[in-house]
Amino acid sequence: MDEVGAAGDIRTVAVIGAGTMGRQIAALSAANGYPVRIHDAMPAALTRALPAIQDELRGLPNAPQYEHHVYRLQPPADHQAILARIQPVADLAEAVAGVDLVIEAVREDVDTKLEVFAALDRLAPDAILSTNSSSLPSSLLAPAIADPGRLLNTHFFAPIWSRNMLELMGCGVTRRDVIERVDRFARSLGLVTAVVQGESKGFIINRIWRAVKRESLRVVDEGHADPEDVDRLWMLFFGTPIGPFGVMDMVGLDVVADIETSYQRVATDPADQPSKVLHQRLAAGALGEKTGQGFYRHPDPEYLDFFDSPAPNPERDAD
Ligand SMILES: NC(=O)c1ccc[n+]([C@@H]2O[C@H](COP(=O)([O-])OP(=O)(O)OC[C@H]3O[C@@H](n4cnc5c(N)ncnc54)[C@H](O)[C@@H]3O)[C@@H](O)[C@H]2O)c1
Repeated sequence: MDEVGAAGDIRTVAVIGAGTMGRQIAALSAANGYPVRIHDAMPAALTRALPAIQDELRGLPNAPQYEHHVYRLQPPADHQAILARIQPVADLAEAVAGVDLVIEAVREDVDTKLEVFAALDRLAPDAILSTNSSSLPSSLLAPAIADPGRLLNTHFFAPIWSRNMLELMGCGVTRRDVIERVDRFARSLGLVTAVVQGESKGFIINRIWRAVKRESLRVVDEGHADPEDVDRLWMLFFGTPIGPFGVMDMVGLDVVADIETSYQRVATDPADQPSKVLHQRLAAGALGEKTGQGFYRHPDPEYLDFFDSPAPNPERDAD
Protein backbone atom coordinates (compact mmCIF):
# COMPACT_ATOMS: atom_id res chain seq x y z
CA MET A 1 0.00 0.00 0.00
CA ASP A 2 2.31 2.77 -1.14
CA GLU A 3 -0.12 5.06 -2.94
CA VAL A 4 -1.20 8.22 -1.22
CA GLY A 5 -4.87 9.20 -1.23
CA ALA A 6 -6.03 12.77 -1.73
CA ALA A 7 -7.12 13.60 1.84
CA GLY A 8 -3.68 13.80 3.41
CA ASP A 9 -4.01 11.93 6.67
CA ILE A 10 -6.35 9.09 5.63
CA ARG A 11 -4.40 7.28 2.95
CA THR A 12 -5.56 3.67 3.02
CA VAL A 13 -8.97 2.09 3.53
CA ALA A 14 -10.33 -1.35 4.36
CA VAL A 15 -13.97 -2.17 3.70
CA ILE A 16 -15.50 -5.08 5.62
CA GLY A 17 -18.43 -6.67 3.77
CA ALA A 18 -18.43 -6.97 -0.03
CA GLY A 19 -22.17 -6.64 -0.55
CA THR A 20 -24.17 -3.85 -2.18
CA MET A 21 -22.67 -1.07 -0.07
CA GLY A 22 -19.18 -2.39 0.59
CA ARG A 23 -18.52 -2.72 -3.15
CA GLN A 24 -19.73 0.80 -3.87
CA ILE A 25 -17.70 2.34 -1.04
CA ALA A 26 -14.61 0.47 -2.26
CA ALA A 27 -15.21 1.56 -5.86
CA LEU A 28 -15.70 5.24 -4.98
CA SER A 29 -12.60 5.28 -2.76
CA ALA A 30 -10.49 3.56 -5.41
CA ALA A 31 -11.84 5.88 -8.12
CA ASN A 32 -10.42 8.74 -6.06
CA GLY A 33 -6.97 7.22 -5.78
CA TYR A 34 -7.18 5.36 -2.46
CA PRO A 35 -5.83 1.83 -2.21
CA VAL A 36 -8.61 -0.31 -0.75
CA ARG A 37 -8.69 -3.77 0.76
CA ILE A 38 -12.10 -5.41 0.77
CA HIS A 39 -12.99 -8.38 2.98
CA ASP A 40 -16.05 -10.60 3.29
CA ALA A 41 -16.76 -13.62 5.47
CA MET A 42 -18.37 -15.38 2.48
CA PRO A 43 -15.77 -16.54 -0.07
CA ALA A 44 -18.35 -16.28 -2.88
CA ALA A 45 -19.03 -12.63 -2.06
CA LEU A 46 -15.32 -11.88 -2.16
CA THR A 47 -14.81 -13.68 -5.48
CA ARG A 48 -17.73 -11.78 -6.95
CA ALA A 49 -16.56 -8.37 -5.65
CA LEU A 50 -14.31 -7.21 -8.50
CA PRO A 51 -16.47 -8.51 -11.38
CA ALA A 52 -19.53 -6.94 -9.73
CA ILE A 53 -17.73 -3.60 -9.29
CA GLN A 54 -16.65 -3.76 -12.93
CA ASP A 55 -20.27 -4.35 -14.01
CA GLU A 56 -21.47 -1.53 -11.79
CA LEU A 57 -18.89 0.90 -13.24
CA ARG A 58 -19.83 -0.12 -16.79
CA GLY A 59 -23.48 0.51 -16.03
CA LEU A 60 -22.90 4.13 -15.04
CA PRO A 61 -23.64 6.94 -17.52
CA ASN A 62 -20.48 7.87 -19.41
CA ALA A 63 -20.67 11.61 -18.85
CA PRO A 64 -20.93 13.65 -15.68
CA GLN A 65 -24.55 14.50 -15.00
CA TYR A 66 -26.33 17.36 -13.36
CA GLU A 67 -29.87 16.70 -12.22
CA HIS A 68 -31.69 19.59 -10.59
CA HIS A 69 -29.02 21.10 -8.36
CA VAL A 70 -27.23 17.82 -7.69
CA TYR A 71 -23.94 16.83 -9.22
CA ARG A 72 -23.83 13.13 -9.98
CA LEU A 73 -20.35 11.64 -9.59
CA GLN A 74 -18.53 10.13 -12.50
CA PRO A 75 -15.70 7.61 -12.09
CA PRO A 76 -12.59 8.05 -14.26
CA ALA A 77 -12.84 6.26 -17.61
CA ASP A 78 -9.99 3.87 -16.75
CA HIS A 79 -11.95 1.21 -14.89
CA GLN A 80 -8.96 -1.16 -14.84
CA ALA A 81 -6.97 1.40 -12.82
CA ILE A 82 -9.84 1.62 -10.31
CA LEU A 83 -10.10 -2.16 -10.03
CA ALA A 84 -6.32 -2.48 -9.65
CA ARG A 85 -6.49 -0.39 -6.47
CA ILE A 86 -9.03 -2.78 -4.87
CA GLN A 87 -7.57 -5.87 -3.26
CA PRO A 88 -9.99 -8.59 -2.11
CA VAL A 89 -8.58 -10.19 1.07
CA ALA A 90 -10.02 -13.33 2.66
CA ASP A 91 -8.19 -12.94 5.96
CA LEU A 92 -9.59 -10.16 8.17
CA ALA A 93 -6.26 -9.54 9.97
CA GLU A 94 -4.48 -9.09 6.64
CA ALA A 95 -7.30 -6.91 5.29
CA VAL A 96 -7.05 -4.32 8.07
CA ALA A 97 -3.33 -4.44 8.93
CA GLY A 98 -1.91 -0.91 8.90
CA VAL A 99 -4.89 0.85 7.25
CA ASP A 100 -5.95 4.33 8.36
CA LEU A 101 -9.70 3.80 8.10
CA VAL A 102 -11.86 0.68 8.37
CA ILE A 103 -15.42 0.99 7.07
CA GLU A 104 -17.70 -1.84 8.20
CA ALA A 105 -20.56 -2.71 5.81
CA VAL A 106 -21.77 -6.15 6.96
CA ARG A 107 -25.42 -7.03 7.47
CA GLU A 108 -27.61 -4.85 9.63
CA ASP A 109 -27.54 -6.99 12.74
CA VAL A 110 -26.12 -5.67 15.98
CA ASP A 111 -24.65 -8.99 17.16
CA THR A 112 -22.86 -9.55 13.84
CA LYS A 113 -21.49 -6.02 13.95
CA LEU A 114 -20.40 -6.37 17.60
CA GLU A 115 -18.40 -9.48 16.67
CA VAL A 116 -16.79 -7.69 13.75
CA PHE A 117 -15.86 -4.67 15.89
CA ALA A 118 -14.43 -6.85 18.66
CA ALA A 119 -12.12 -8.37 16.04
CA LEU A 120 -11.29 -4.97 14.55
CA ASP A 121 -10.39 -3.62 17.97
CA ARG A 122 -7.72 -6.29 18.20
CA LEU A 123 -6.57 -6.37 14.59
CA ALA A 124 -6.60 -2.64 13.73
CA PRO A 125 -5.56 -0.94 16.98
CA ASP A 126 -4.54 2.34 15.31
CA ALA A 127 -7.23 2.74 12.67
CA ILE A 128 -10.32 4.91 12.68
CA LEU A 129 -13.25 2.50 12.82
CA SER A 130 -16.57 3.35 11.21
CA THR A 131 -19.86 1.59 10.62
CA ASN A 132 -22.05 2.06 7.59
CA SER A 133 -25.10 0.92 9.55
CA SER A 134 -28.38 2.40 8.33
CA SER A 135 -29.97 2.54 11.74
CA LEU A 136 -27.62 1.54 14.58
CA PRO A 137 -25.85 4.36 16.41
CA SER A 138 -22.15 3.61 16.83
CA SER A 139 -22.59 3.98 20.62
CA LEU A 140 -24.19 0.47 20.48
CA LEU A 141 -20.91 -0.87 19.11
CA ALA A 142 -18.69 1.08 21.52
CA PRO A 143 -18.63 -1.72 24.15
CA ALA A 144 -16.57 -3.78 21.68
CA ILE A 145 -13.88 -1.09 21.38
CA ALA A 146 -11.30 -0.28 24.06
CA ASP A 147 -10.92 3.31 22.78
CA PRO A 148 -14.29 4.39 21.33
CA GLY A 149 -12.79 7.82 20.68
CA ARG A 150 -11.84 6.37 17.26
CA LEU A 151 -15.33 5.00 16.47
CA LEU A 152 -18.08 6.70 14.45
CA ASN A 153 -20.96 6.21 12.02
CA THR A 154 -20.28 6.90 8.36
CA HIS A 155 -23.59 6.49 6.61
CA PHE A 156 -23.13 6.20 2.84
CA PHE A 157 -26.06 5.92 0.44
CA ALA A 158 -26.79 3.72 -2.56
CA PRO A 159 -26.36 4.30 -5.41
CA ILE A 160 -23.23 6.07 -4.23
CA TRP A 161 -22.54 7.79 -7.57
CA SER A 162 -25.84 9.64 -7.63
CA ARG A 163 -26.56 9.88 -3.91
CA ASN A 164 -23.17 11.45 -3.28
CA MET A 165 -23.81 12.28 0.34
CA LEU A 166 -22.60 11.05 3.73
CA GLU A 167 -23.91 11.43 7.27
CA LEU A 168 -21.26 11.33 10.01
CA MET A 169 -22.20 10.74 13.62
CA GLY A 170 -20.00 10.21 16.64
CA CYS A 171 -20.63 7.62 19.35
CA GLY A 172 -20.72 10.19 22.17
CA VAL A 173 -16.99 10.12 22.88
CA THR A 174 -15.61 10.23 19.33
CA ARG A 175 -12.69 12.63 19.13
CA ARG A 176 -13.37 15.79 17.13
CA ASP A 177 -10.23 15.26 14.98
CA VAL A 178 -11.46 11.76 14.07
CA ILE A 179 -14.71 13.21 12.72
CA GLU A 180 -12.82 15.97 10.92
CA ARG A 181 -10.39 13.54 9.28
CA VAL A 182 -13.19 11.31 8.02
CA ASP A 183 -15.14 14.37 6.88
CA ARG A 184 -12.11 15.51 4.81
CA PHE A 185 -11.73 12.00 3.41
CA ALA A 186 -15.41 11.91 2.41
CA ARG A 187 -15.23 15.31 0.74
CA SER A 188 -12.17 14.13 -1.17
CA LEU A 189 -14.47 11.45 -2.65
CA GLY A 190 -16.90 14.13 -3.88
CA LEU A 191 -19.46 13.47 -1.15
CA VAL A 192 -21.60 16.17 0.42
CA THR A 193 -21.28 15.61 4.16
CA ALA A 194 -23.43 16.40 7.18
CA VAL A 195 -22.25 15.88 10.76
CA VAL A 196 -25.18 14.84 12.97
CA GLN A 197 -25.16 16.69 16.27
CA GLY A 198 -25.63 14.39 19.26
CA GLU A 199 -27.12 10.94 18.63
CA SER A 200 -30.12 10.28 16.40
CA LYS A 201 -31.27 6.77 15.51
CA GLY A 202 -31.45 6.87 11.72
CA PHE A 203 -29.29 10.02 11.61
CA ILE A 204 -31.11 12.67 9.59
CA ILE A 205 -32.36 11.27 6.30
CA ASN A 206 -32.89 7.65 7.33
CA ARG A 207 -35.02 8.73 10.26
CA ILE A 208 -37.27 10.64 7.90
CA TRP A 209 -37.13 7.83 5.31
CA ARG A 210 -38.05 5.26 7.99
CA ALA A 211 -41.25 7.17 8.75
CA VAL A 212 -42.09 7.16 5.02
CA LYS A 213 -41.39 3.41 4.74
CA ARG A 214 -43.40 2.57 7.86
CA GLU A 215 -46.47 4.48 6.67
CA SER A 216 -46.19 3.27 3.04
CA LEU A 217 -46.08 -0.37 4.24
CA ARG A 218 -48.92 0.27 6.70
CA VAL A 219 -51.21 1.79 4.07
CA VAL A 220 -50.73 -1.37 1.98
CA ASP A 221 -50.96 -3.78 4.99
CA GLU A 222 -54.26 -2.17 5.96
CA GLY A 223 -55.58 -2.73 2.43
CA HIS A 224 -56.03 0.93 1.53
CA ALA A 225 -53.77 0.83 -1.52
CA ASP A 226 -51.32 -1.33 -3.41
CA PRO A 227 -47.60 -0.50 -3.75
CA GLU A 228 -48.14 0.85 -7.29
CA ASP A 229 -50.78 3.35 -6.07
CA VAL A 230 -48.47 4.61 -3.34
CA ASP A 231 -45.55 5.03 -5.73
CA ARG A 232 -47.63 6.61 -8.51
CA LEU A 233 -48.97 9.28 -6.17
CA TRP A 234 -45.61 9.82 -4.51
CA MET A 235 -43.82 10.22 -7.85
CA LEU A 236 -46.30 12.87 -9.05
CA PHE A 237 -46.50 14.68 -5.71
CA PHE A 238 -42.76 14.97 -5.19
CA GLY A 239 -41.72 14.94 -8.86
CA THR A 240 -39.41 11.95 -8.40
CA PRO A 241 -38.65 9.12 -10.87
CA ILE A 242 -39.23 6.46 -8.18
CA GLY A 243 -41.49 5.98 -5.15
CA PRO A 244 -40.99 4.38 -1.71
CA PHE A 245 -41.65 0.80 -2.86
CA GLY A 246 -39.31 1.24 -5.83
CA VAL A 247 -36.59 2.46 -3.47
CA MET A 248 -37.17 -0.48 -1.10
CA ASP A 249 -36.65 -2.85 -4.05
CA MET A 250 -33.40 -1.06 -4.83
CA VAL A 251 -32.15 -1.31 -1.23
CA GLY A 252 -33.11 -5.00 -0.98
CA LEU A 253 -36.16 -6.22 0.96
CA ASP A 254 -34.02 -8.36 3.30
CA VAL A 255 -31.99 -5.27 4.21
CA VAL A 256 -35.22 -3.25 4.63
CA ALA A 257 -36.61 -5.96 6.96
CA ASP A 258 -33.43 -5.94 9.10
CA ILE A 259 -33.63 -2.15 9.38
CA GLU A 260 -37.35 -2.28 10.25
CA THR A 261 -36.57 -4.82 12.99
CA SER A 262 -33.93 -2.54 14.43
CA TYR A 263 -36.48 0.29 14.75
CA GLN A 264 -39.26 -2.00 16.02
CA ARG A 265 -37.00 -3.27 18.84
CA VAL A 266 -36.97 0.21 20.37
CA ALA A 267 -40.42 1.40 19.24
CA THR A 268 -42.74 2.88 21.84
CA ASP A 269 -45.76 2.65 19.49
CA PRO A 270 -47.38 -0.82 19.88
CA ALA A 271 -48.68 -0.55 16.29
CA ASP A 272 -45.08 -0.51 15.03
CA GLN A 273 -45.08 -4.20 13.99
CA PRO A 274 -43.42 -6.15 11.14
CA SER A 275 -45.15 -5.46 7.82
CA LYS A 276 -47.27 -8.28 6.36
CA VAL A 277 -46.68 -7.33 2.75
CA LEU A 278 -42.92 -7.03 3.26
CA HIS A 279 -42.69 -10.45 4.94
CA GLN A 280 -44.88 -12.09 2.27
CA ARG A 281 -42.40 -10.90 -0.37
CA LEU A 282 -39.45 -12.16 1.70
CA ALA A 283 -41.09 -15.58 2.23
CA ALA A 284 -41.45 -15.84 -1.56
CA GLY A 285 -37.71 -15.14 -1.99
CA ALA A 286 -38.50 -11.81 -3.67
CA LEU A 287 -35.73 -9.54 -2.35
CA GLY A 288 -35.98 -6.72 -4.91
CA GLU A 289 -33.56 -5.86 -7.72
CA LYS A 290 -31.02 -8.44 -6.57
CA THR A 291 -33.38 -11.38 -7.20
CA GLY A 292 -35.24 -9.89 -10.19
CA GLN A 293 -38.48 -9.61 -8.22
CA GLY A 294 -39.55 -7.55 -5.22
CA PHE A 295 -42.53 -5.25 -5.15
CA TYR A 296 -41.75 -4.90 -8.87
CA ARG A 297 -40.26 -7.10 -11.57
CA HIS A 298 -36.65 -6.18 -12.53
CA PRO A 299 -34.62 -5.03 -14.42
CA ASP A 300 -37.53 -3.09 -16.02
CA PRO A 301 -39.80 -2.30 -13.08
CA GLU A 302 -43.38 -1.38 -13.91
CA TYR A 303 -43.05 2.11 -12.38
CA LEU A 304 -40.82 3.15 -15.30
CA ASP A 305 -43.95 2.98 -17.51
CA PHE A 306 -46.46 4.49 -15.09
CA PHE A 307 -46.75 7.75 -16.98
CA ASP A 308 -45.97 6.63 -20.52
CA SER A 309 -49.50 7.27 -21.70
CA PRO A 310 -51.82 10.00 -20.42
CA ALA A 311 -54.55 9.01 -17.97
CA PRO A 312 -57.76 7.92 -19.79
CA ASN A 313 -60.14 10.83 -20.40
CA PRO A 314 -63.50 9.76 -21.91
CA GLU A 315 -64.31 13.24 -23.25
CA ARG A 316 -60.94 13.79 -24.86
CA ASP A 317 -60.76 10.22 -26.17
CA ALA A 318 -64.40 10.19 -27.47
CA ASP A 319 -63.47 10.39 -31.12
N1 LIG B 1 -28.23 -1.41 0.73
C1 LIG B 1 -28.31 -0.10 0.98
O1 LIG B 1 -28.89 0.67 0.20
C2 LIG B 1 -27.66 0.49 2.22
C3 LIG B 1 -27.52 1.89 2.31
C4 LIG B 1 -26.86 2.45 3.44
C5 LIG B 1 -26.40 1.61 4.44
N2 LIG B 1 -26.57 0.25 4.34
C6 LIG B 1 -26.04 -0.56 5.43
O2 LIG B 1 -24.81 -1.12 4.98
C7 LIG B 1 -24.61 -2.39 5.59
C8 LIG B 1 -24.44 -3.44 4.50
O3 LIG B 1 -25.61 -3.46 3.72
P1 LIG B 1 -25.61 -4.12 2.27
O4 LIG B 1 -26.85 -3.64 1.60
O5 LIG B 1 -24.30 -3.93 1.59
O6 LIG B 1 -25.80 -5.67 2.68
P2 LIG B 1 -25.47 -6.95 1.80
O7 LIG B 1 -26.30 -8.03 2.38
O8 LIG B 1 -25.55 -6.65 0.34
O9 LIG B 1 -23.91 -7.25 2.13
C9 LIG B 1 -23.45 -7.59 3.41
C10 LIG B 1 -22.19 -8.43 3.23
O10 LIG B 1 -21.62 -8.63 4.52
C11 LIG B 1 -21.08 -9.92 4.54
N3 LIG B 1 -20.93 -10.35 5.93
C12 LIG B 1 -21.88 -10.75 6.81
N4 LIG B 1 -21.33 -11.02 8.02
C13 LIG B 1 -20.00 -10.75 7.90
C14 LIG B 1 -18.90 -10.81 8.78
N5 LIG B 1 -19.07 -11.21 10.05
N6 LIG B 1 -17.68 -10.46 8.32
C15 LIG B 1 -17.51 -10.06 7.04
N7 LIG B 1 -18.51 -9.98 6.14
C16 LIG B 1 -19.74 -10.32 6.57
C17 LIG B 1 -22.06 -10.78 3.76
O11 LIG B 1 -21.45 -11.98 3.29
C18 LIG B 1 -22.45 -9.81 2.63
O12 LIG B 1 -21.63 -10.00 1.49
C19 LIG B 1 -25.81 -2.63 6.50
O13 LIG B 1 -25.50 -2.20 7.78
C20 LIG B 1 -26.88 -1.74 5.86
O14 LIG B 1 -27.86 -1.35 6.80
C21 LIG B 1 -27.17 -0.33 3.25
